[in-house]
Amino acid sequence: MKKVCVYTLALCLVVSSMPSAPVLAEDDGATLLEERCSGCHPKSITTSKRKAPKQWQATVSRMKHRGARLTEEEMQTLVDYLSETFKP
Ligand code: HEC
Repeated sequence: MKKVCVYTLALCLVVSSMPSAPVLAEDDGATLLEERCSGCHPKSITTSKRKAPKQWQATVSRMKHRGARLTEEEMQTLVDYLSETFKP
């Protein structure tokens, strides 16, 4: 009985660490922009801008101080996404 448990656990670990596992929606920069950045102003205020990574970092950090709900990790994901998608 004990062996079965160990095998089941091992299988779960293998499955959950497979590279093909879908990325969680919460980790997606586009989703973060949609969900956390369109409450106070239209999303287009962001998507119409072109900024270098440092400037996006500064903007997102300012928005966080204004009240945007973002963890440090989400902030980094979003800054990476914005820097890649809306570059000058
Ligand atoms: C709590 C309200 C609030 C939320 C949430 C918010 N913003 Fe803002 N945003 C503002 C206000 C107020 C301004 C105008 C004043 C300013 O620029 O700081 C603004 C202005 C901006 C501007 C135009 C000015 C510039 O620096 O280019 C951009 C771009 C922007 N926000 C991006 C974002 C992004 C990206 C997010 C998501 C992380 C976000 N905002 C979330 C309140 C908010």
